[in-house]
Amino acid sequence: MGTKLKAYLRLLGAHHILCMNRRNARYIAPGNPRQHYRLVDEKIKTKTLAAEAGVPCPETYGVVTYYGEIKRILTRITTTYNTFVIKPNRGAAGRGVLVLERDKDGKWRKPSGVRMRAMDLHFHVTSILSGLYSLSELPDQTLIEQRIFPHVFFKDIACGGTPDVRIILFRTVPVMAMMRLPTTRSDGRANLHQGAVGLGIAIATGISSAAVCHNGHITCHPDTGANLLGLQVPDWPAALAAARRLAAHIPLNYIGVDLMLDAQHGPMMIEANARPGLNIQVANNTGLRPRLEFLQTLFARGATADQAWAELYPRIAADTL
Ligand SMILES: Nc1ncnc2c1ncn2[C@@H]1O[C@H](COP(=O)(O)OP(=O)(O)O)[C@@H](O)[C@H]1O
Ligand SMILES: [Mg+2]
Repeated sequence: MGTKLKAYLRLLGAHHILCMNRRNARYIAPGNPRQHYRLVDEKIKTKTLAAEAGVPCPETYGVVTYYGEIKRILTRITTTYNTFVIKPNRGAAGRGVLVLERDKDGKWRKPSGVRMRAMDLHFHVTSILSGLYSLSELPDQTLIEQRIFPHVFFKDIACGGTPDVRIILFRTVPVMAMMRLPTTRSDGRANLHQGAVGLGIAIATGISSAAVCHNGHITCHPDTGANLLGLQVPDWPAALAAARRLAAHIPLNYIGVDLMLDAQHGPMMIEANARPGLNIQVANNTGLRPRLEFLQTLFARGATADQAWAELYPRIAADTL
């Protein structure tokens, strides 16, 4: 085994990193029954569940299911709103998400300034319906929804788009969080795959502790140079409460809930995930394993989610796990 690989494995062990095999074998396979995946793989379905759980979401302006209705629905939306978001119902990693705004001349543009003509919008919806961006490349529906604007807190640390916060929960207890900040490169989307910044957020306090971009650690936003560390995310207790309410309403034990923090309406759910990525550990500079294993021990002893949460937090804060 090469010395580089050995050093990497030592690092994984020392930081108690959760790897994909362990995540799948210990948490996803036993706790996330496959038949419930569609509750989170389909954004339209998840929004219905969020509404039932009392978690606000961006307003749905329209859903396109058939090619024959594209023109009618797009005409209604482009004559009613000045900004909106088009996305695949079954998309992932920001693929096919289009944030649009009308400029002062009445033309539609992406946050990067690229012009989108009526025929470009029509073509984009056609591509979504054909399944170009959908998880299993099956035909898909198009969701058109209200655009959420970033809270003033994000003025210097998000470019051209709205950040989101991912909270991972195990049996409704939040275990780790990451904020994702759009960059010029990510064109209105807060997905790491598109070039966004991942910001590790201390789960108990909502304070940023580390930042990554393209898997390398950074301390300042790549576009604005603003400091990224030691920032207090606004409305943090409300974000945790919203994520817990949604998790309690979805029959999946291990789940990632993505929220946006709207200045007026507080946390709003945009999607949830049954197989949330593991790079949240890189953004937080720490592993998920000790937290999950501690919770498993508590649950095995019969603790409730509230008791487990009350026991987990002081340990994370004091770094004694
Ligand atoms: N309603 C919205 N308002 C503003 N930005 C949005 C909205 N929906 C999505 N976005 C931006 O696009 C990104 C990807 O959207 P998301 O719904 O999470 O799809 P995906 O499953 O592809 O990640 C979000 O992180 C956010 O930055
Ligand atoms: Mg997303």
